[in-house]
Amino acid sequence: MLNDIQEVLITEEELKAKVKELGELLSREYEGRNPLVICVLKGAFMFMSDLVKSMTVPLEVDFMAVSSYGKSTRSSGEVKIIKDLDTPVEGRHVLIVEDIIDSGLTLSYLIDVLERRNALSVQIVALFDKPGRRTVDLEPDYKGFTIPDAFIVGYGLDYSERYRNLPFVGVLKPELYSH
Ligand code: PRP
Ligand code: MN
Ligand code: MG
Repeated sequence: MLNDIQEVLITEEELKAKVKELGELLSREYEGRNPLVICVLKGAFMFMSDLVKSMTVPLEVDFMAVSSYGKSTRSSGEVKIIKDLDTPVEGRHVLIVEDIIDSGLTLSYLIDVLERRNALSVQIVALFDKPGRRTVDLEPDYKGFTIPDAFIVGYGLDYSERYRNLPFVGVLKPELYSH
């Protein structure tokens, strides 16, 4: 598996430090608001787990599975809810935890869904941002790293469902993509 990685873009230590910093910032922002912290499965599972461990305020967690990429490296442009939330969001302060924003389609769809359900506030924390690939106008409220337009894997991010378990973020060798 490590042979498939061209270079390590962000090390485990760098990820740990950044996630801790975001958790501390979000703890201040959400003090006394009992946020509903939503993990966007599958990609955000590792970030979510580390992030809430560094948040020191009362909060609730829930999980939503959406997919727009499937097994392809390109967005289909069509977002599907595979698993919905268990918790009503009406009147709640919602924090969406996402691993990466690429075209922005997944999150703009999700924000729309949550606002129509009358959330009191909806904010986004994204660990990675690829601003060069945006097709819709969308900015995260909080972000970890701005990254170049390379296909990255690890720390939750997959290529064709693989590599999610890598503890660092790496660039996949381009010859491994299917076109
Ligand atoms: C990936 C990633 C984000 C989304 C970003 O999810 O985890 O959720 O794509 O792309 P976008 O901004 O162009 O919408 P994917 O659909 O691959 O599902 P996964 O999280 O299960 O891997
Ligand atoms: Mn995802
Ligand atoms: Mg994916």
